[in-house]
Amino acid sequence: MKASKHDWPVLIVSGQFHEASDEGFRLNELVSELEEVQYCSVIPSFTYEDAQEIFMSRADIGAVVIDWDLPDEDPDEFMYAPELIGLIRARNKTIPILLLTDRLDMESIPVDVLKAINGYLWKTADTVEFLSGRIEMHLLKYLKSVYPDFFGALVKYSEEYKYAWHTPGHMGGEGFLRSPAGVALYKFFGENTLRSDFSISVPELGSLLDHEGVVGDAEKNSARAFGADYTYYILNGTSNVNQVIWRSQVLKDDIAFVDRNCHKSLNYSMVITDAFPIYMIPRRNKMGIIGPVRLSEFSPETIKKKIKENKLIPENLKGNTPKMSTLTNSTYDGVCYSVVNIKKELEQSVKNLHFDEAWYAYARFHPIYKNHFGMTDDKLDKNHPPIFCSHSTHKLLTAFSQSSMLHIKNGGTDKIIPYEFNESYMMHGSTSPQYSMIASLDVATKMMQDNGNIILNDIIIEAIQLRKKMILILDELKEENEDDWFFGMWQPEEVIIEGEKMRFEDVEDEILADTQSVWVMSKDNPWHGFEDMEDDYAMLDPIKLTFTTPGIDSEGNMAEEGIPASIVSNYLIDKGIVCEKTDYYSFLLLNSLGTTKGKQGTLLAELFKFKEHYDTNTPLCEVFPELVNAYPKNYEGVGLKDHCNAIHKYFKDYKILDSMQAGFQVIPDQVMKPAEAYHSVVGRKVEYVELDDMMGRIPAVMIVPYPPGIPIMMGGEHLNEKAKPIFDYLKQRQDFENAFPGYQSDIHGVERTDRDGKKYFKTLCIKE
Ligand SMILES: Cc1ncc(COP(=O)(O)O)c(C=O)c1O
Repeated sequence: MKASKHDWPVLIVSGQFHEASDEGFRLNELVSELEEVQYCSVIPSFTYEDAQEIFMSRADIGAVVIDWDLPDEDPDEFMYAPELIGLIRARNKTIPILLLTDRLDMESIPVDVLKAINGYLWKTADTVEFLSGRIEMHLLKYLKSVYPDFFGALVKYSEEYKYAWHTPGHMGGEGFLRSPAGVALYKFFGENTLRSDFSISVPELGSLLDHEGVVGDAEKNSARAFGADYTYYILNGTSNVNQVIWRSQVLKDDIAFVDRNCHKSLNYSMVITDAFPIYMIPRRNKMGIIGPVRLSEFSPETIKKKIKENKLIPENLKGNTPKMSTLTNSTYDGVCYSVVNIKKELEQSVKNLHFDEAWYAYARFHPIYKNHFGMTDDKLDKNHPPIFCSHSTHKLLTAFSQSSMLHIKNGGTDKIIPYEFNESYMMHGSTSPQYSMIASLDVATKMMQDNGNIILNDIIIEAIQLRKKMILILDELKEENEDDWFFGMWQPEEVIIEGEKMRFEDVEDEILADTQSVWVMSKDNPWHGFEDMEDDYAMLDPIKLTFTTPGIDSEGNMAEEGIPASIVSNYLIDKGIVCEKTDYYSFLLLNSLGTTKGKQGTLLAELFKFKEHYDTNTPLCEVFPELVNAYPKNYEGVGLKDHCNAIHKYFKDYKILDSMQAGFQVIPDQVMKPAEAYHSVVGRKVEYVELDDMMGRIPAVMIVPYPPGIPIMMGGEHLNEKAKPIFDYLKQRQDFENAFPGYQSDIHGVERTDRDGKKYFKTLCIKE
C-alpha cells in the first residue's frame, strides 16, 4: 500500500560500471546487493550531466550515490561533482546524498560539499554488504520524512487492514464487489483509493470539525506555511470558503464592500448574510480585458460616497463601517494587486479584509509575487483589521478537486477567536469528510514547504520560455513575409533591466523570473492598455498566459479581418486542449504545476495547424464537422477564414466590445438586497421574463455572461433606463446566437426558449 523502497530508486553516478577493475567489480556487486538482497531498485548513471538530467526529470529518487572522482574528459564541457551536489541540494534539501570515494580523496573535498552530503561510502575499504546497508538505511530514513503527518497517518491506518463496521457503506471497497458495476468502479479507482475512504469515526485521524489530532496538526502546519495565524481545510471548494468567512463576520443589514468582478459564491455570501452590498468597479482595457479596480475606489472618501449614494441602505445605517471588503486577487486575467497599498487604504474604513485568491494559492512561495498576496508579511498598522484569504488549493496547487484552504491573520486588536469562528465552519462543513482530500491538502502544503520555490521557479521559467517563443515565431514568420500573422501574447514588449530598456525576448529567462518590476504595470509602459495605472500597484502573473488573436489593436480599433478567440478555443478543445477562459479576442491558458514541455509543444503545433487552416480557408466541414452537420444551412460550403471574418465583422458592425464596455460600467439601481431577491425565489414570487420584455423588471437572480464571466446584474437590481446598456448588451448576445447557431455561450442566470427556429433569452424576475 505505502510506496515501498523499491518505488524510490537509488541513483548511482559512476563511470566505473563497465570497468574491468576492482572498483568496477565492487560497484556492480553493490548494485546486485541492493537489488537482490535489499529489494531496492537502482538507476545507474555514467556522467554527472546524465545524473542531473535524471534528477531534474523525476522526484521519486530515494537516494543519490555519487562517485567523487569521475575521470576528466573534456574539461570545458565537464560537470564536476560539487556542481551536481549543489544542484541536487538546491532542489531537495533532505534527499540523502552519499559520496563514493577513497579515504585518500577526503582532503580534496571542499567544505561546501561536506555540508551538503549525508555521508561517505569508502569504495574499497568497506564490505559491499555494509555499503548497501548504509544506503538502505539512508533511503528508509528519507522515505519516512516524505510523508507529511496526516497523510502518513492515513496510510498507516489503511495498512492495518482493520475490519470496519462504520460508514462509508462500501467499507474499504468490499461493498462494490457485490455487483458488476461496483467491480468496474473498484477496478478503475483501485484498492488504495477505496481503502483510504473512511468516515469521521476514525479517531486516530483526528477531527476535522474540531481541528484536533493529526488533522488539526496538518491545518496548523499549513498556517505556518501560508503565513496565517489560523488555517482551516474546507472540503467543498472556495465557494464554501467564501461563505464560511462571510458568515463568521457579516450579519443582516451590515454593509459589505464587494468587487463587482467577484465569483458567484460571493453573491450567495450576500444572500446568506442578508447584507447591503456596495461595489468596487474594475477597469477594463480597449480589448475587453478586465483590469484592476482603481486604488481610489478603496479610499475612505469613496467608500463613504458609495454608501451615501446607495438608495437601498436606510439613512440610520449609513454611518456604519462596512463589515467586510472582498477583492478578487488575482483577477481572472492574472492581474495581481499590491495588497500592501490596498490594505493601507482599506484598514481605515472596513472591519475585515477578504482577498479571494482562489487562483493564486502559490504566491507566497516565489519572490516575484512579493507583497502581492493577502497573507504577505508586510508591516501592518497596529489597528489593522483581520485579514482572510480564500485559496482553491485544488486549482493551481495539487490538492484534489474541491479541497480548499481558508487562511486568517488576526487583526492588530481585533482577534479572531477560534471557537467562535468554528460556529461558521461547522455550519458549512459536512460531518463526513473525505480523508483523501484532507491528505491532498496536507501534501500540497508539504510540497510547497519542501521545494515550492524551485517548483514555482521552474513553471515561471517555462511560462517565460513560451512567452518568448510566441514572439520569436511571429518574428520569423514576418521575416519571410511582412504581412504574415500569428497569435500574440498580452505582455510587455519592452522592459527595463538595470536602467536599460530591452526587448522582452532579449532578457535572460532567469532575470525575467527574478525581476518583479518587469511584470508590474505602469503608466510609462502602457502595453496593458489600462488607463491611469497607479505606480507599484498591479502586476501580471507570469504563469497566466493570455494569448491574443488578430482583429483588434490595443486601442480597440478593429481590423477588416479578424479571428474571434472562441473559434480558436473551440478548435483547441477538439484537439484536447482546454482553455481556462475565452474572451472576444483573447484566451487564457495556465502554465501550472501540471504543465509539461510536451503540452506546450502540442499547443504550439495546434496553433500552427489552426493558422494553416485559416490561411488556406479549409472548409469548415473539415475543421468543425459537428458544427456543419448540426447547422448545414448556415455553414455548408464556408471556409474557416470566411467563418472567422464573418463573426469578426458581426462584432465590428455591432460594436459588441463597446457595448460590453458600456454594459459593465453601469451599476444598476438596487431595489432590494440580493437576499430579498432570493427570498422571492423561495416564496415563488418570481416568473420567467423574456429579455425583450425585461426593461423595467427586476431579475431575482444574478446574470453573469461568459465572456467576461463577471456579474452584469445582481439579483434585486433594476433594469431601468439607467441600466439600458446592460439590456442592449444582452440583446446583442441573443441576436448573435441567432445569427451564428452553435455559438451559444454560457450566461449564468439566463435560460433559452426555442420558438420559430430562434432562441429567446429569459431570466427569473420578481413577479409584478
Ligand atoms: C475568484 C473565485 N473565487 C471562488 C471560486 C470558487 O472556487 P471553487 O471552485 O473552489 O468552489 C472561484 C472558482 O472559479 C473563483 O474563480
